[in-house]
Amino acid sequence: MRIKILSCTFLVLSFIILRIAEAEAVTLQYPPDKTVMEFDLLNISMEVPQASADLITVKVNDKEKASIVPDKKYECFSVPLALGINKIDITASREGKQVFNTTLNVFRRSDLVGNYMKTPAGFKKDYFHAGENSRCSECHMLEPKETDKRPVSPTSFIAETFDKKTVIQATSTCYSCHNKIAASPYVHGPVAVWSCLSCHDMDSDPKYSVKKPDTEVCFGCHIEQKTDWQSKKFIHGPVTLGKCAICHSPHSSQYPANLYKSTWDLCVTCHADRGSGRHVLGDAFSTQGHPTRDRPDPVRTGKKLSCASCHDPHASNFPHLWAFEVEDMFDLCRKCHYDK
Ligand code: HEC
Ligand code: HEC
Ligand code: HEC
Ligand code: HEC
Ligand code: HEC
Ligand code: HEC
Ligand code: HEC
Ligand code: HEC
Repeated sequence: MRIKILSCTFLVLSFIILRIAEAEAVTLQYPPDKTVMEFDLLNISMEVPQASADLITVKVNDKEKASIVPDKKYECFSVPLALGINKIDITASREGKQVFNTTLNVFRRSDLVGNYMKTPAGFKKDYFHAGENSRCSECHMLEPKETDKRPVSPTSFIAETFDKKTVIQATSTCYSCHNKIAASPYVHGPVAVWSCLSCHDMDSDPKYSVKKPDTEVCFGCHIEQKTDWQSKKFIHGPVTLGKCAICHSPHSSQYPANLYKSTWDLCVTCHADRGSGRHVLGDAFSTQGHPTRDRPDPVRTGKKLSCASCHDPHASNFPHLWAFEVEDMFDLCRKCHYDK
């Protein structure tokens, strides 16, 4: 009997000691290994008990991307991701001695670039909001507030032309963790005012997933475009499939119209042969081909010449998706080359 009680006390004691040791060590809370991300930012969240570490460094594919002097019991930050598999090395040290080290692999997928469309074996999407995350709610608000639930109707949306800055900080619960999603220069309308739930349905499964195809959400607000494009005889391949977000970031991007790349680069991603310089003008006209970029667009003032100068990226009444509602090729040419 005595022996039993003794060993029991021993067990409890060693358990407590283990817990203390555990509590004082640096731990990674997010992300898990082998996850899949759609966009170029990875959120990292670490528990760093007081005095457990004085430096955290993160390398992405062997290049240092973050270096943090921890001063809170939780450190949350983000690092950029390249397309494909990213090797993430996280190291914490104290007084020059390494106290924590781990390596994760994260796959960044892309619908646009062939090589990265398919998730490699062993990787899977980890739905953060579908999992257990009560530890985060010690400091963050995880459930959306009434003010986050803005209506989807475009008219009610436009009526809400309010002061962005105050709205963001005061009303969006999503902001504290996802603030970088709206940080690129060209921000999509609803994202600029943190109306995240106009596309991310909180009652969907998994939580916050977006309806597919994209047109299900996009045409909810872009009614004018829907009516216009669907009345056209020819609709561009990806638009027919409802894949708006293959070209447009739903959040924010470096390029006008929230495109993932500049228009020319975007088109050439799928139509490589048209970027060769041999487009439009055959040998009979010119040995140089017709310019498709790097000049001002003579019609659309302020824009640069690009594939979209002659083609509508969405729909047209002409088979080659010609812009300007022209009926034949010479009408197209005349748009820019007036008869003198
Ligand atoms: C002890 C409080 C605390 C806890 C617990 C906490 N966070 Fe944070 N988190 C913060 C603070 C404070 C910031 C703002 C950091 C800043 O701006 O320097 C933040 C910012 C973030 C950011 C934004 C980082 C960036 O680069 O902008 C993310 C993402 C995040 N937290 C995720 C999480 C997740 C996931 C958890 C749970 C695993 C969590 N946090 C738990 C305090 C906490
Ligand atoms: C505690 C921080 C935190 C808060 C608050 C938060 N998120 Fe997240 N969210 C995360 C993290 C971490 C991920 C994992 C993916 C990533 O790193 O972007 C994530 C992922 C997502 C995803 C991708 C699907 C998934 O479950 O992984 C969506 C969509 C999303 N969040 C929407 C929202 C919306 C909308 C809100 C506001 C109502 C919100 N989030 C609030 C931390 C947070
Ligand atoms: C116009 C619609 C729209 C709005 C508004 C929107 N999103 Fe998204 N979001 C999407 C789509 C589409 C995806 C891609 C989902 C997919 O393909 O499964 C996405 C994906 C995400 C992801 C997942 C990223 C990943 O790597 O998996 C996060 C996180 C996210 N959104 C956060 C937000 C936050 C925070 C807001 C508010 C500022 C917001 N979104 C507003 C349409 C939207
Ligand atoms: C909640 C309503 C709403 C939804 C849903 C929505 N949009 Fe928008 N969108 C807007 C508003 C508002 C603007 C800003 C209009 C303006 O600036 O004239 C806008 C502007 C745009 C622009 C033009 C940007 C520019 O600079 O000209 C593009 C492109 C766009 N949205 C694409 C999309 C795509 C793709 C989807 C689906 C993933 C989508 N939108 C879903 C409301 C919405
Ligand atoms: C093949 C790529 C591609 C796809 C797919 C695509 N867009 Fe666009 N979109 C563009 C480009 C390029 C522009 C800018 C054209 C320019 O330079 O004027 C644009 C412009 C826009 C604009 C602003 C100007 C306008 O025409 O009203 C909106 C809104 C828009 N797109 C919405 C959508 C929606 C909604 C979908 C899905 C039905 C979609 N786009 C699918 C490439 C695309
Ligand atoms: C994600 C891939 C993708 C991107 C990006 C893309 N396209 Fe396309 N495009 C297609 C597909 C798929 C078709 C249909 C091919 C077919 O029917 O043979 C197509 C067809 C076309 C056609 C021929 C239509 C016809 O009926 O003859 C034109 C013109 C065109 N695209 C122009 C553009 C322009 C301009 C851009 C940039 C704004 C662009 N594409 C970007 C995938 C893409
Ligand atoms: C100066 C006007 C002009 C520009 C700029 C232009 N195109 Fe074209 N495109 C045409 C004309 C005219 C045709 C039809 C004659 C032909 O096939 O050469 C055409 C045809 C096409 C076709 C369809 C061919 C088919 O067989 O149906 C595609 C795809 C295409 N262009 C893509 C592009 C892409 C991608 C770019 C940008 C790199 C671009 N175009 C730039 C005028 C232009
Ligand atoms: C969107 C405007 C636009 C359209 C439409 C257009 N062009 Fe051009 N074209 C240009 C521009 C810009 C240049 C370059 C002018 C310069 O640099 O001085 C050019 C140059 C040319 C050149 C001289 C090429 C060289 O080697 O310098 C020829 C020939 C030409 N275009 C023929 C055509 C024909 C044929 C069509 C109809 C199929 C056409 N263009 C449609 C804008 C256009």
